[in-house]
Amino acid sequence: MTNWDEFLVPYKQAVDELKVKLRGMRTQFERGDEHSPIEFVTGRVKPVASILDKASEKNIPFDRLETEIQDIAGVRMMCQFVDDIIKVVMKLRMRKDFKIIEEKNYISHKKPSGYRSYHMVIEYPVQTINGEKKILAEIQIRTLAMNFWATIEHSLNYKYEGQFPEEIQMRLQRAAEAAFRLDEEMSLIREEIKEAQAFFTKKKEQANDHRTKE
Ligand code: GTP
Ligand code: MG
Repeated sequence: MTNWDEFLVPYKQAVDELKVKLRGMRTQFERGDEHSPIEFVTGRVKPVASILDKASEKNIPFDRLETEIQDIAGVRMMCQFVDDIIKVVMKLRMRKDFKIIEEKNYISHKKPSGYRSYHMVIEYPVQTINGEKKILAEIQIRTLAMNFWATIEHSLNYKYEGQFPEEIQMRLQRAAEAAFRLDEEMSLIREEIKEAQAFFTKKKEQANDHRTKE
């Protein structure tokens, strides 16, 4: 590859645009008085060194990087609750500005590492001065707890180059279980909150009914 900057231009453009668009979804949710299923959105272009590492690891020739490496452009959507993830996924499926190529549910089927997340690979059209260019991008949708675990595991992976000492391996498994339980606990608390809100809404309605009758 002679010119990385040039190669990465549409990917940078796509990440910038997707960040604005997906953050816009959060803003729209917030305008209603419902809880927003999106907490925050991040995005990044894969660093050249990581692209090269992945290409050599997976024996991908340079002329096939665009089709074989699906996460050169990557965005992440963080949610408070596990139930929020499917709501976000359904909204993404309705969008007309990209095409979903693949979906992977590592929540119902967590990875052996303990990794949990919902993945979407999309084909995103970038408008360039030379016309439209379709690129692949990866959207990861996960809870704050899933993100916490994945971020820590990722940096340890980097440090140990994927070969964890047994002790660390065990602790990571336990941390993954703890993150899972945290998500479960939060879901239960959320149900409590929803029930409490429904209870008060009902009381208010009853009070209003009463007043109109008087
Ligand atoms: P990649 O070669 O990583 O793209 O694997 P894949 O093509 O099978 O895709 P997959 O959906 O499994 O993973 C894509 C991305 O998910 C990775 O680049 C990571 O960001 C994330 N991911 C997948 N597995 C793990 C994991 O065990 N730990 C962490 N921290 N992240 C993971
Ligand atoms: Mg991949």
